[in-house]
Amino acid sequence: MITGLSRRALLTGAASLPFLPWALRAETAAFPPDFVWGVSTSAPQIEGAADEDGRGPSIWDVFAAQPGKIRDGSTPKIACDHYHRWKEDVALLKGLGVGAYRFSIAWPRVFPQGIGQANERGWDFYKKLVDALLEIGVTPMPCLYHWDLPRALQEKGGWLSRDSAGWLSDYAEAAAKRLGDRVNNWFVLNEAAVHAVFGHGTGEHAPGIAKGESGVLTALHHQNLAQGDALRALRSVGPKFTLGTILSLQPVVPETAEEADRQTVIAWDAVWNRIALDGLMRGAVPEVLAPKMADIVKAGDLERIKAPIDVLGMNYYSRFTVRHDPNLMFGMGWGRAHVERFTAYGWPVEPEGIAEILMELKQLYGNPPVLITENGAAYADMPGPMGKIDDQDRIAFIRDHLRAVQKAKAAGCNVRGYMAWSLLDNFEWQMGYSMRFGLVRVDFGNQDRIPKSSYTWFNKVAGTGIPA
Ligand code: FCB
Repeated sequence: MITGLSRRALLTGAASLPFLPWALRAETAAFPPDFVWGVSTSAPQIEGAADEDGRGPSIWDVFAAQPGKIRDGSTPKIACDHYHRWKEDVALLKGLGVGAYRFSIAWPRVFPQGIGQANERGWDFYKKLVDALLEIGVTPMPCLYHWDLPRALQEKGGWLSRDSAGWLSDYAEAAAKRLGDRVNNWFVLNEAAVHAVFGHGTGEHAPGIAKGESGVLTALHHQNLAQGDALRALRSVGPKFTLGTILSLQPVVPETAEEADRQTVIAWDAVWNRIALDGLMRGAVPEVLAPKMADIVKAGDLERIKAPIDVLGMNYYSRFTVRHDPNLMFGMGWGRAHVERFTAYGWPVEPEGIAEILMELKQLYGNPPVLITENGAAYADMPGPMGKIDDQDRIAFIRDHLRAVQKAKAAGCNVRGYMAWSLLDNFEWQMGYSMRFGLVRVDFGNQDRIPKSSYTWFNKVAGTGIPA
């Protein structure tokens, strides 16, 4: 169901979202007992064991090996060594008391060439992991693709090739056949827009392609096509599966009230949020991008992109403040957020934005069931006496976001669960190991895991449902 309200009207101020009920007693209000509590990770950020047991190279292995690409000169080759220490990490999940765990399957571990010959040792790793999760009562929620395309597929054109849809749906079908007897909840892609913009537009992420607007729109459109096909492939193997995909959603706001900034908001919002949502939910391309996509979108594509999902995975970190810059793609320059709080990454802390997105999903896209699949923050995490990390700033970040989620929920938003990013400190893409997002500290020298104060706090929240 689509309401009469248009996104453009919202952005230009011609309409406004209703006020959220602020009077909720946030200190004591509890989420309902069936609210899902979990944590998220991804294979390329934690697994390591890049050359072991038949795994093929991914685009991140190739990218990180090039000098100057990763801030601290590191690579994901060892990361958190989760491939060898997974039992310890499952025990950490148990201690955390969460009901769900979202991780990703490394495509190059299970198909070293991306297509063709499967690597059974790779599949065995995920079977063992899933069985161990089930044994402790944690629901496994794998995501098929968290940006680690097999190098062999990049050599065939990667996401700039229309063949990518076939590659992903074949992989999805194999995953469902291998693991579908024990996995019921599946996510297909992680943040297609982020992968398109930074991997194919600016080149700051793997595969390091800096093709500007056409790179972004092509990679995004092809991921969306692949996503639709993969959802159908999963459904054909498991009609009862709970299926979803994961989007990074951010309210886009102008730095100033200037008309140019407001127009940039419309263009950037279309790229960042709308292509994915309008495609998946409505089979449409945002009006403002239609001319630029005319050569990319072929007959029948929009029907393939629109696909029924059971749950939408939503990642949220902050709003997106933009200013007009005619020299940059889509005229988008990074604007200064009008807030006082920032994380160690420099990202603004804007908890209200999570509620704004949930309200938008309710008002513009028929209120789909939503699982917040990522939310969290990087902080400096200075070890205190006995190595203890008393990360009160991270606790405050998560608490404030959970309270905003409660308000959205009280206003009727269909939000079903919350997963913190992340279980472990990990390889944070082009920032290497310099940004720590974990509830558990990882010593990247000896691989010791040290639960932070936020781990103990989150355990209490998951147990009581109260983000006190
Ligand atoms: C998201 C990514 C995730 C992690 C967080 C901090 O965009 O999905 O892998 O890096 O940001």
